[in-house]
Amino acid sequence: MDDKYAQWLKVADARLHPSITNPNYLVLRRRRLILDEWITGIPGDGLRVLDVGGRYQPYRPLLQRRLRSYVALDVSATPLVDVLGSGEQIPFKACTFDLVLATGVFEFFPQPRVAAAEVHRVLKPGGHLLLSVAGVCPRMNDNEQWRYLPLGLKSLLASFSKIEIVPEGTSLGGIVRLNAVALSCFAKYRIIRQILHHTIVPIMNLLGLGLEGAALSTNDQIAGNYSVLAQK
Ligand SMILES: C[S@@+](CC[C@H](N)C(=O)[O-])C[C@H]1O[C@@H](n2cnc3c(N)ncnc32)[C@H](O)[C@@H]1O
Repeated sequence: MDDKYAQWLKVADARLHPSITNPNYLVLRRRRLILDEWITGIPGDGLRVLDVGGRYQPYRPLLQRRLRSYVALDVSATPLVDVLGSGEQIPFKACTFDLVLATGVFEFFPQPRVAAAEVHRVLKPGGHLLLSVAGVCPRMNDNEQWRYLPLGLKSLLASFSKIEIVPEGTSLGGIVRLNAVALSCFAKYRIIRQILHHTIVPIMNLLGLGLEGAALSTNDQIAGNYSVLAQK
């Protein structure tokens, strides 16, 4: 494989199939399961897909055999990005795409309502949006501007005819993940972070998996992220 692509595809695969040493393991694992189920339920082959914030494209493999085209739009150029531009001004005609993916990007838009209107505009009637946004989560990047809650998401996507919002884990998983990420944030030096990621973090992730598996709660007040399926 071309080295130019390899490093980006490696990041993408680590998001799609997170290691137990990853502080975000619980939400990333859950997101794959949710998105996979939703993608399976979207009818048709030969899909025209737009990935807004498509620098890595972790969820592209879930669509692989059903694609007619896959366009990655991002403000940051990488070998995987096809079109340089913003989700707040999508450079495509109305009704172009069957599916828009926007994972981990609505946190960054200065005007998320403008981006939501743009996504709605470029979707074909009946087309779908797959979104993943942070809920209760530390700031992961200094360019982030927003966190989201279910009611806010409904308001943001009010122009869509159907919306389904699913927490990427309950509050129990959310608390465990929040603490795993917080530990990692406080570890200033890489070596300390690596030690934490290979000792305490896997134990926390296994605890979180156990708590989620035991289905002790459906509370989502401390959910780390939300996945959203919306239809135009
Ligand atoms: C946290 S990364 C998420 C990447 C990928 N979608 C994922 O799920 O792993 C956020 C991405 O959004 C991009 N981004 C930030 N602001 C944007 C904007 N206004 N329009 C399009 N992409 C943007 C960033 O460059 C970055 O690639």
